[in-house]
Amino acid sequence: MTGNLYVIACGAGPAADVGQLAALAMGEGWDVYVGATPAGWGFLDVDQLSDLTGHTPRCDYSGRTSGWPQADGIIVAAATLNTIGKLAGAIADNWALSTITESMGHGVLIVIAANVNPALARHPRFRQNVADLRSWGVTVLWDPEPVPPTWMAPWPVILNAMTAATIG
Ligand SMILES: Cc1cc2nc3c(=O)[nH]c(=O)nc-3n(C[C@H](O)[C@H](O)[C@H](O)COP(=O)(O)O)c2cc1C
Repeated sequence: MTGNLYVIACGAGPAADVGQLAALAMGEGWDVYVGATPAGWGFLDVDQLSDLTGHTPRCDYSGRTSGWPQADGIIVAAATLNTIGKLAGAIADNWALSTITESMGHGVLIVIAANVNPALARHPRFRQNVADLRSWGVTVLWDPEPVPPTWMAPWPVILNAMTAATIG
């Protein structure tokens, strides 16, 4: 697949390793742009990701234009309880959320890889949010019975979900 892939990290541990996903995606031909929520930003090695992808990561609206081309796909990983809830609730109070929400409206392919521990995931609203997002055409990777201590799908599985979405 060739195209522009936004990888958007939230405030969860695996966000620190999002470069692994970027490298895998680049190996499959994607041009990768890494972004983050404000809480996700602190997990990123911005210099390393900048060198790897050739694009400066971002987490805000700096500049009058984004400087990024339109996304063909967006992967949100590691997606928090918070960001999943806001996406389902149309709350766009940061750059990442408004970018993802607007892209949903444009029909951009979205894959959300949840990293939500089982206790948090027992909240009924979380389960409804996952169901709602799926019903709106968003791919949500979330295992209701994960094997501790990992709560998120492996990076290759996440990328495969995007590849599958592009095929339809
Ligand atoms: C070290 C650390 C790890 C965290 N891991 C998770 C996590 O795995 N899943 C989650 O939903 N929240 C996690 N949180 C809490 C979120 O960062 C917090 O809810 C934050 O408001 C999420 O913001 P965001 O959704 O805008 O990224 C973690 C927080 C810290 C400090």
